[in-house]
Amino acid sequence: MIPTFGLEIVARKLGNLAANIRRLGPREAWRLYRYRLSERYDDWRLGIRTTGLVTPRELGHDAHCQPYEAIHYRCLDVIMDYFDPSPELDVLLDYGSGMGRAVIVAAMRPFKRVIGVELSSTLNQIALDNISRARSKLVCPDVQIVTIDATQYHVPTEVTSVFLFNPFNGPVLEAVQQQIRDSLRQKPRPLRLVYMHPAHQVNTFDQCDWLQRDRQLPTADWDDVKMVGYQAVVERMRASTP
Ligand SMILES: C[S@@+](CC[C@H](N)C(=O)[O-])C[C@H]1O[C@@H](n2cnc3c(N)ncnc32)[C@H](O)[C@@H]1O
Repeated sequence: MIPTFGLEIVARKLGNLAANIRRLGPREAWRLYRYRLSERYDDWRLGIRTTGLVTPRELGHDAHCQPYEAIHYRCLDVIMDYFDPSPELDVLLDYGSGMGRAVIVAAMRPFKRVIGVELSSTLNQIALDNISRARSKLVCPDVQIVTIDATQYHVPTEVTSVFLFNPFNGPVLEAVQQQIRDSLRQKPRPLRLVYMHPAHQVNTFDQCDWLQRDRQLPTADWDDVKMVGYQAVVERMRASTP
């Protein structure tokens, strides 16, 4: 026998499905449900929980901070192929690591260290639970989650791969760009950076003269975002004075 509350959930889900088909049309609704199912499946495969949307208001963040929403797993595969880490060398930094999805997928590749920087201690607690549940699947020996405002985080000089999935904008993003630049000045080195942002938003990394736009990366079936890969211009860092 199906309990009554189970029937209520099924009825609510069917109601949502019908509303989405009416709102989006069958083709877009199918795309949405296929995406949601694949995200849940990938979370289930790793034994973690990273789906959902948490607003800056719920997180107690200011206006320049973006909501929590995990990056599409398909995009993460593209990003990690782009970084192509070497075990003895590469250290990845995820700005605004949220519930830890990108950190976990990165730690399944041979990075020397993976660091997630996140302002919300609530999200960080979830990320730590997720990391411990996925531990047996990780190959990176050193995974860290740091609770801090990204503007205050001094980028370690071993960081070689930086990832940002639209974590913040305006002065917060400017301060973070300065932190990355300072770290490169302190120790000029090869560094790759991937920035993912809403397609309509101006990408200020294009104006950073210490970075060279490498290429635009494919975003699977997320067509309202852009994802761009950059490389640090090491010569310019060597030549510049602090
Ligand atoms: C779009 S989510 C990205 C989640 C994660 N990187 C992923 O790809 O699954 C953006 C995250 O940035 C965090 N964030 C916003 N402002 C921040 C700040 N000033 N310092 C650190 N994290 C911040 C938010 O709390 C949120 O978790």
